[in-house]
Amino acid sequence: MGLNATPGPPLWLLAELTYRCPLHCVFCFNPVDFARQEEELTTEDWMRVLRQGRELGAVQLGLSGGEPLVRDDLEEIVVEAHRLGYYTNLLTSGVGLTAARAAALKAAGLDHVQLSFQDSTKEMNDFLSHTKTFELKSRVAKIIKDNGWPMVLNVVIHRMNIDHIDRIIEMAADMGAEYLELANTQYYSWAFLNRDQLLPTHEQLKQAERKTDAWRARMGERMRIFFVAPDYHEGKAKKCVNGWGNMFLTVAPDGTALPCHTAKMLPGLSFPNVREHDLRHIWFDSEGFNRYRGTGWMKEPCSSCEFKEQDLGGCRCQAYLLANDPAVADPACYKSPHHHLVEEAVERAGSLSPARAMEHPLVFRDPANSRRLAGA
Ligand code: FES
Repeated sequence: MGLNATPGPPLWLLAELTYRCPLHCVFCFNPVDFARQEEELTTEDWMRVLRQGRELGAVQLGLSGGEPLVRDDLEEIVVEAHRLGYYTNLLTSGVGLTAARAAALKAAGLDHVQLSFQDSTKEMNDFLSHTKTFELKSRVAKIIKDNGWPMVLNVVIHRMNIDHIDRIIEMAADMGAEYLELANTQYYSWAFLNRDQLLPTHEQLKQAERKTDAWRARMGERMRIFFVAPDYHEGKAKKCVNGWGNMFLTVAPDGTALPCHTAKMLPGLSFPNVREHDLRHIWFDSEGFNRYRGTGWMKEPCSSCEFKEQDLGGCRCQAYLLANDPAVADPACYKSPHHHLVEEAVERAGSLSPARAMEHPLVFRDPANSRRLAGA
């Protein structure tokens, strides 16, 4: 989409119902200052957002967080979403998905569940999330299957679990997952704070890809395996959130409407709140959604790049985090004048022994750390 083209509808509405979460994952994509958030939207607010989303043309609804199951109106929200005709996805850590709640969500019309695991081993799963949740998650996987939902297992991949990839895939196959998403860590938010400890080496990555390909050949149609390639190692920028203001509309727990999970941190931009504006205005007319839409905002090297329509300049949040300017080319791209920052980070990861990497203590996602980092 060029400068003046009218955007299509937001096909995906992501409802981040809450930042409350029983887990403390070191790679959490919630904003580092999440503890500063304002009051959560009410049930009625969410009902209104859902209706406005459908009127705009949204068809997919992601119910995420934090942990969406901590909201006791989740079932009510699903009933309304189902009635409106959304295809509903619950993105959960599994904590709180008891057999009774699963039955209620099934009756409410929930279509799909994505369950996150941190690793195939209890030790690493529980260490990375700072909770004892591995066995609970295994029980939840069975509950999901018993309810006949298609199951996506999502595992965020990084230096500390990438060598377990065989066991992770085997675990997903044993649990009867239809889909396995091996999502290489994106280095924003908490993962950015922990990047030196989490970034895998080139060699680890290549090996993981080889093993994944072998499993794909073995599993065929029984389980589809997605290996979400890491942009740090590829020298290429990715079309982040499928393009700014192009497909995804995220509503944060306090009602701030965002083109991606972390856009609120970007300087010089204001994002509207669903308490004050309807989604039509937000999507088509707000400054925040229009600023990096299409290609008209680009500077060199993006503006004359032959790939600009494919990657749309990459990720604005990464450009800000690494180059301190959200309007420059994503430093993951080899053409970016800041690409050396990505190369140096990968090199550093390659030269750090696991023991050295662990000398920097990990920062776990929790409200106390969040308040400290926000300076509150
Ligand atoms: Fe915000 Fe990529 S995460 S644009």
